[in-house]
Amino acid sequence: MLEVAGFSAGYQGNDVLHAVAFRVDAGEAVMIIGSNGAGKTTLFRAMCGLLSPSAGQVRFEGNDITRLPAERIARLGLRFVSAERHLFPRMTVQENLLLGAYPHRPDPQTLSTVLELFPRLAERRRQHAGTMSGGEQQMLAVGRALMSKPRLLVLDEPSTGLAPLLAQATYKALRVLRKQGLTVLVAEQQVPLAMAFSDRGYVLENGFIRLQGTTAELAAHPGIRSAYLGVT
Ligand SMILES: Nc1ncnc2c1ncn2[C@@H]1O[C@H](COP(=O)(O)OP(=O)(O)O)[C@@H](O)[C@H]1O
Ligand SMILES: [Mg+2]
Repeated sequence: MLEVAGFSAGYQGNDVLHAVAFRVDAGEAVMIIGSNGAGKTTLFRAMCGLLSPSAGQVRFEGNDITRLPAERIARLGLRFVSAERHLFPRMTVQENLLLGAYPHRPDPQTLSTVLELFPRLAERRRQHAGTMSGGEQQMLAVGRALMSKPRLLVLDEPSTGLAPLLAQATYKALRVLRKQGLTVLVAEQQVPLAMAFSDRGYVLENGFIRLQGTTAELAAHPGIRSAYLGVT
């Protein structure tokens, strides 16, 4: 479904990603794990059209989407939920959700599905997004992305800024979405959370993919255990 090859990107002419390659097959949940500063956000932004890569290719469902504008990529069915969430704080929860369908008209059936998945958002439909808690805003950011009926959902550190229980709740919703057939790519530095969710993963360190494997393989790897799982 998604294939990234020889992908490099950075800032002011200095690459922070170096020939990154990975793939996501339809129906999979794949994680990119790595510590703060590894390049996860840079990778997703460059992949989703928010930053121009210096080399390499991104293919999505057979189409070359490298360097397409973010809006076109989203319209093709690849939807990115950034760690900052970028909600419209002075609009209501419902207005934020409806805008997620843009440029298409919101589908009432999709809206009900989203509100069913996040009952909290249903309760708070008329509340301004900016007055919601961090966890609720994360739900709203995911819900808004779902309004466009993506086939691949790309999430950058969905646990950021959330108390452990709320981070768990976010992943619980992602598990439901997966069962419904959505393909998910997630970046995390909270590795245990991502591991409890993903089928496969890649380890990004200093802009290089250092390791890859099934979640079970990565969880058993001594380097991963000591660096990311706190096992000595
Ligand atoms: N806007 C920016 N301008 C310059 N350097 C940046 C910018 N954003 C990130 N970086 C640098 O790129 C590297 C990777 O950062 P980032 O992609 O945010 O990593 P991660 O998401 O894994 O924490 C870091 O060294 C960071 O300082
Ligand atoms: Mg980041």
